[in-house]
Amino acid sequence: MAEAAVGGDPEHAPETGEGSDVSTVSAAAPAEIGLRCEVDGEIATVTLDRPDKRNAQTFATWSALARIGDTLPERVRVVVVRGEGPSFSAGIDLRMFTPEGVPGQESFASAAALGDTELERLIAEAQRGFLWLRRPEIVSIAAVQGHAIGAGFQLALACDLRVVADDVKFCMKEPALGLVPDLTGTKPLADIVGVPRAIEMCLTARVVGAEEAVRLGLAEIAVPAGELDQTTRDLVAALLATDHAAATATKRLLRAAPGRTLEEQAAAERAEQVARIRALFASN
Ligand code: ACO
Repeated sequence: MAEAAVGGDPEHAPETGEGSDVSTVSAAAPAEIGLRCEVDGEIATVTLDRPDKRNAQTFATWSALARIGDTLPERVRVVVVRGEGPSFSAGIDLRMFTPEGVPGQESFASAAALGDTELERLIAEAQRGFLWLRRPEIVSIAAVQGHAIGAGFQLALACDLRVVADDVKFCMKEPALGLVPDLTGTKPLADIVGVPRAIEMCLTARVVGAEEAVRLGLAEIAVPAGELDQTTRDLVAALLATDHAAATATKRLLRAAPGRTLEEQAAAERAEQVARIRALFASN
């Protein structure tokens, strides 16, 4: 098994992409990032690894996530996102709400002093950590047990699929803390459960358990906690059994479908199929 990236090592600070804020990672201690990524052939496993703090996330976690997306080997087809310990993630590190913040990183108090452009750039860099999980070339699976609160819920929502343990507790807590969910979670949530249910869930910050999550389509399957890893492995194996190019083209079609008319989608199906037929059957 090859180690692809370990967030938190200052020597492995992320590349400076447009809008990125390298300082949030390079100044952060590894313990504050709490993330590791292992690549085994076509499978990458991203693990939130700060169980003693219920995998609370910071700006440095999100920059490290973006870096994993930037450096993911091309051979990777499935990305599993999981959390060590009893909770997938208790969301944003609550120290970010304090004046002292997390050592070496922005707190909300220091971020509030930034200009609008700089502040939006900081948020954009955080969002970059989540956006790559939707790439057509990969299928991302969140394996979720225990609490998935705020940023934890949004990280699960950033993945294509969710496998949950029967003790899962999803909660979108941001509005209750005076914020909006801004880690790319509002669109998948509204797309999956519908706008009225999304408003109800977000504005009451109530907990959604396993049975309801499956019923609403927030999870593909719920299993006893002891079976979470094996169920995830089985799903990974089933996904890998499908031709990669066909899977990529199909995911590209499905992801774009909600934003298109039937005619547009039919045209997109034709274009993808022409490429597939040529790839499969064209004579040399
Ligand atoms: N930020 C920082 N530390 C945290 C967080 C967090 N979000 N969540 C838990 N921890 C720490 C606790 O302070 C505690 O640390 P300590 O052992 O040094 O005292 C440790 O993790 C364990 O937490 P407990 O509360 O003892 O664990 P328990 O399993 O009983 O409860 C729960 C888990 C329900 C998740 C609880 O910790 C909690 O409510 N956390 C805060 C959740 C929250 O409001 N997150 C923000 C969401 S909004 C957003 O993400 C933008």
